[in-house]
Amino acid sequence: MSEKASISINGKSHELPVITGTENEQAIDISKLRDVTGAVTLDPGFKNTGATQSAITFLDGEKGVLHYRGYPIEQLAEQSTFLEVAYLLIYGDLPAPDTLTDFRAKISRHTLIHEDMKKFFDGFPSKSHPMGQLSCLVGALSAFYPESLDPNPSEEEENLTIMKLLAKMPTIVSWIYKKSLGHPVIYPRNELNYVHNFMNMTFGQITEDTKIDPAVVRAMHKLLILHADHEQNCSASTVRIVGSSNANLYASISAGISALWGPLHGGANQAVIEMLENIRKDGGNSAKWIAKAKDKKDPFRLMGFGHRVYKNFDPRAKIIKQACDDVLEKLGIDDPVLDIAKELEEAALKDQYFVDRKLYPNVDFYSGIIYRALGFPTDMFTVLFALGRLPGWIAQWKEMKANKEPIGRPRQIYTGSTRRDYIPLDKR
Ligand code: SDX
Repeated sequence: MSEKASISINGKSHELPVITGTENEQAIDISKLRDVTGAVTLDPGFKNTGATQSAITFLDGEKGVLHYRGYPIEQLAEQSTFLEVAYLLIYGDLPAPDTLTDFRAKISRHTLIHEDMKKFFDGFPSKSHPMGQLSCLVGALSAFYPESLDPNPSEEEENLTIMKLLAKMPTIVSWIYKKSLGHPVIYPRNELNYVHNFMNMTFGQITEDTKIDPAVVRAMHKLLILHADHEQNCSASTVRIVGSSNANLYASISAGISALWGPLHGGANQAVIEMLENIRKDGGNSAKWIAKAKDKKDPFRLMGFGHRVYKNFDPRAKIIKQACDDVLEKLGIDDPVLDIAKELEEAALKDQYFVDRKLYPNVDFYSGIIYRALGFPTDMFTVLFALGRLPGWIAQWKEMKANKEPIGRPRQIYTGSTRRDYIPLDKR
């Protein structure tokens, strides 16, 4: 017998169906609530509201568990590659060897961007933020591929658009970086694998393939895998709701990039490094900054700490922290902000304020330290988050379309003026 929930309002009781997922999570299905009660729910920030039923990513915030299509993030980060994880998220299963080879080959055919796209790059002020450029450039892809605007594409057409976006994103990201330096761009070299090709376009020389340290390429795979999806976070929800209006994939992903930019979301990885640098310049007194983070009168927050869902360690933060140590040791880098980060973590995890609120380091706390060690400037960190998150956003968009979900349009409770008559200007 399926579980029911009872609600009584205005002296009447109603039963609502309860949905149970494959990991035994439960939801009260309120899709008919307004029809039967006349009332809607209110949940600012959707802290208690499920927007969809999804088979892509499972996370248990209390236990610090994260699975992509059932596979533990720890195993994928250690054993998989970014393009294999992209396939898994988008198509639902680990690809057979020949399927993965075919997937790689298809993507390598689309790594170039239209030469006219360069005019967009030339139009940006030299110090404009890379996230603003990325959102604009990804949205602009729809101008070069008008067929992608078809709201009802065939499976083949939808997959072609997905391939194009996956293939072109590394090129766009690396060219944003090169343009910021005033360097000539480096064109993709399709004999290199996806991540190596990206690293070569970013850090390579014009003439030959720079010998990118394999440890650096492996670390980049791990970072991109760890960022690849995270169920209904702010930017994924943005991609789904924009796509629900039948907007094309490029426009939906462009909106997701803008949502990720915020320092409360993906922009936190840039904010963490800026915070750690400020603390270092201020003398490295972690106790002082922990006190500021707890002071409600002080706007300072410990960036990279806390999470809407994780009330335990973010499993990604644990992996990235270890990778931090490994990469900095391998590259012989001694970054003073890593010691400050570890001191802050140690102090916060023993402090009642953080313990009571279950605030732990999240994915953004250590990631910037690795990105910096790999040679990326701070304002590129969130762009790298977007590069990793792209397959997750695509998977979420594809699932929303396949489920034929209705256009997203939340309700509200009106609290403004009740009806009143217009007062002509000369009478006010
Ligand atoms: C990402 O959702 C996802 O999955 C996102 C993400 C993904 O992969 O897509 O995981 C990526 O966005 C990670 C989060 C990156 N953001 C930051 O690191 C910014 C710093 N963190 C906070 O701003 C905050 O923790 C949020 C935004 C992440 C979560 O905010 P919530 O869930 O709305 O919680 P809240 O702001 O209501 O905080 C609850 C309490 C409050 O104190 P009280 O009012 O109860 O006294 O905890 C306090 C907050 O003031 N608090 C913090 C804090 N985070 C929360 N206090 C100090 N420092 C912090 N970082």
